[in-house]
Amino acid sequence: MNCCLLIPFVVGITLLRPCLTATENSKTQEVKQPVGSHLRAKRGWVWNQFFVPEEMNATRHHVGQLRSDFDNGNNSFQYKLLGDGAGSIFDIDKRTGDIYAVQKLDREERSLYTLRAQVIDTTTGRAVEPESEFVIRVSDINDNEPKFLDEPYEAIVPEMSPEGTLVIQVTARDADDPSSGNHARLLYSLLLGQPYFSIEPTTGVIRIFSEMDRELQEEHRVIIQAKDMIGQPGGLTGTTSVLIRLSDINDNKPIFKKTFYRLSVSESAPIGTSIGTIKAHDNDIGENAEMEYSIEDDSQTFDIITNNETQEGIVILKKKVDFEHQNHYVIKAKVKNRHVEEQLMKYHAEASTASIKVLVEDDDEPPVFLLPYYVFEISEGNSYGSFVGNVSATDPDHRNSPIRYSITSSKMFSIDDNGTIITTNPLDREVSAWYNLTVTATEKFTYSHLYKWNIHFQFF
Ligand SMILES: *[C@@H]1O[C@H](CO)[C@@H](O)[C@H](O)[C@H]1NC(C)=O
Ligand SMILES: *[C@@H]1O[C@H](CO)[C@@H](O)[C@H](O)[C@H]1NC(C)=O
Ligand SMILES: *[C@@H]1O[C@H](CO)[C@@H](O)[C@H](O)[C@H]1NC(C)=O
Ligand SMILES: *[C@@H]1O[C@H](CO)[C@@H](O)[C@H](O)[C@H]1NC(C)=O
Ligand SMILES: *[C@@H]1O[C@H](CO)[C@@H](O)[C@H](O)[C@H]1NC(C)=O
Ligand SMILES: *[C@@H]1O[C@H](CO)[C@@H](O)[C@H](O)[C@H]1NC(C)=O
Repeated sequence: MNCCLLIPFVVGITLLRPCLTATENSKTQEVKQPVGSHLRAKRGWVWNQFFVPEEMNATRHHVGQLRSDFDNGNNSFQYKLLGDGAGSIFDIDKRTGDIYAVQKLDREERSLYTLRAQVIDTTTGRAVEPESEFVIRVSDINDNEPKFLDEPYEAIVPEMSPEGTLVIQVTARDADDPSSGNHARLLYSLLLGQPYFSIEPTTGVIRIFSEMDRELQEEHRVIIQAKDMIGQPGGLTGTTSVLIRLSDINDNKPIFKKTFYRLSVSESAPIGTSIGTIKAHDNDIGENAEMEYSIEDDSQTFDIITNNETQEGIVILKKKVDFEHQNHYVIKAKVKNRHVEEQLMKYHAEASTASIKVLVEDDDEPPVFLLPYYVFEISEGNSYGSFVGNVSATDPDHRNSPIRYSITSSKMFSIDDNGTIITTNPLDREVSAWYNLTVTATEKFTYSHLYKWNIHFQFF
């Protein structure tokens, strides 16, 4: 420090040849100014600067000395200080010309004070020298740590980016004097974030050091240290953190959750019926997870369309099926992403497939009467319970379920499970010559509801 202060001081003095000598309070300064009356042809107080270190703890710090070369030491001269901080920050021993700093100074607050000096001969009351201006500079100590400017730092970089990819640049500022030693010369280093990231020590540029997969870890927190004194021991440090998010690239293909699905379709289902859904999963997000399903062996009977909302595959019927003809099908479904960039095709080799077995269900058709309508004749006056006639219906399905019959529309007749109709009340032709009945035939064991069949009776 002293060495740095000495040089400008010595140069200044030598060039300007002042009549009033300034002496730095410096241990290493051995230089005595040439003073002599023969040099005083050029008059005036032309001062180079004094230096005082900032943050001095001493209550009275000797800055330097003003001395007129007329001063023969008989104590008749009086030195006076005027200007910035004179009397408050800086004090002068009016007899010796010694200048003191009486307050702690902060270079980062104010680095330069402009003062004026006077020297008066007390015996005459006149100025010995013309008043002159000089400056006191506050010299820097390394009392400020580096501070990062743009916190908080956040960056987004695509996953799987190669080594060397630029992520972000962080910059710290050091309030200390950049021209004073290495007080403001910073070196950046990574405290947290290895081995995925690296930092350029002088620029603060953060780069990728090794590839990262978003599907393993989406966010990384990196801690950066800036250290002054070019990172040497004893330097002051500042730290910041950078939140680095990885953006998605399409480095995952969709994969079926199950490799085997069992679906079923009724033989009565119309073309276009959706018979079930299949689903694949993709670890990517957004557009990179959009998929497209297809049938591998180009089935004539089934098709798969994609539900763009849910990314599910919907199996639909392309052609009517017939249980009696073929009671099951096996199809192979395939899934791939809708959008894959050329350079990412390496992640999409061999699309995932799943087998789908489709069972054709035998349809549960309603019972069928042997005749479309029945006409029975019965004489009036027959007693209660007289036989009217037989009706008969059968289940067309191969299950051949037993049939139950019922009459709901008349109080005059009843029917049993054999299809035999009898009277339950005496009949009178003069009251009614016709009874039109509806008989319902129902499969005894069925998932379906009632199937009805109309039968017309005629009485004479
Ligand atoms: C002044 O004192 C403080 C506290 O004791 C110390 O941290 C600082 O380094 C001192 N300053 C100088 C210039 O010695
Ligand atoms: C002191 O010295 C100065 C300059 O030589 C002179 O002008 C002054 O009269 C002297 N004063 C006394 C008290 O001797
Ligand atoms: C889904 O989107 C694709 C392209 O955006 C389109 O071709 C397809 O028809 C859509 N599917 C459905 C079921 O809307
Ligand atoms: C009607 O059905 C019953 C019972 O199955 C049978 O005994 C009877 O002979 C049948 N009558 C006629 C006329 O077919
Ligand atoms: C149905 O017919 C059979 C054979 O003719 C007979 O045994 C049975 O009792 C009849 N059932 C009813 C409910 O009349
Ligand atoms: C019964 O149906 C026949 C034929 O549809 C109709 O001519 C007749 O009037 C009907 N009888 C009664 C009582 O509803």
